[in-house]
Amino acid sequence: MPFNARDHADAALVINLNFGHFSAIPEYRAVNRDLVARLLERIPNPFVHLDVATGAGLVPQLIIEEAKARGYRGRVIALDYDEQALELARKATPSTEDVSVTFVQGDARDVRAAVQEYLPPEGVDSVSIHDAIHEIEGEEGQRRVFAALADVARSGAFLSINSSFTSTSMAVGNSMRGHGEWKLHFVRLTGAKRNRHIETLAYRTPADYKQMIADAGFQVVHEEDSEVQLTKAALKAISRYPEFVRGMARDLTFANDFSMAELSDALCAAVDRIRFDVVPRLWYGVIAQKVASEPV
Ligand SMILES: C[S@@+](CC[C@H](N)C(=O)[O-])C[C@H]1O[C@@H](n2cnc3c(N)ncnc32)[C@H](O)[C@@H]1O
Repeated sequence: MPFNARDHADAALVINLNFGHFSAIPEYRAVNRDLVARLLERIPNPFVHLDVATGAGLVPQLIIEEAKARGYRGRVIALDYDEQALELARKATPSTEDVSVTFVQGDARDVRAAVQEYLPPEGVDSVSIHDAIHEIEGEEGQRRVFAALADVARSGAFLSINSSFTSTSMAVGNSMRGHGEWKLHFVRLTGAKRNRHIETLAYRTPADYKQMIADAGFQVVHEEDSEVQLTKAALKAISRYPEFVRGMARDLTFANDFSMAELSDALCAAVDRIRFDVVPRLWYGVIAQKVASEPV
């Protein structure tokens, strides 16, 4: 039966489609908190940190928490190109007495231009891009992001990056089956056809990312594969993020002209049809250090 958003109870619950729904999920916060803790244990006090593709402000929030636990003071510059995300992030992430946060609109591929006025002369102590590198179009674009981060980082600065969109992200437990069922029910509910000529999202290997990071001038000092148990609530929350919906729909053609809200509702409805209560997924994370430049 074709999907009709008006028939679906969740439709009434859609207030806003954004990443904030997923960034509130405890399991997602926990995996990012661990990586942020590994970053903060390496940086000086006081510190200046730059978070790129900040979304709803999760990384700045976790830095504030972790800095408080350590008695650190510092400054966070947080960048995203989406004004709606920045608005959400600003509201959810007030500066504290010890850590000030400045949100800036700009492109991750051209970081310096956006944040120049906030940079210390020697560069920032640390940079991060969490759960976003896979959203940057093409290998060249992703390489530009790493180079842009290296460009604004001081010598010896640290980078943290993670992604749950690598070639190994579903290589755990029932992940493949769970995600497969989800997609199948999404296809059935929307009456979509898979179009094999359309390229799906490029799932790079962890080694690909490591190479790009090294090529930008960072040396990997920590690497992790963290298993996150995605509950149905988590899968529904990510279904409210338009970029994720677009990713799931990338290789599909729809007979109907569904709106983003309708597709999001269909993805949520498909979650209820998965036979597993929990679908695991691996988050690949890296901490790397900018290699000291040779004295000239
Ligand atoms: C999945 S969210 C992750 C947000 C946050 N880092 C987190 O871990 O919760 C990805 C974010 O990347 C941002 N983004 C994608 N491409 C970007 C680009 N070229 N420049 C700046 N931000 C970008 C999107 O607007 C979105 O807010």
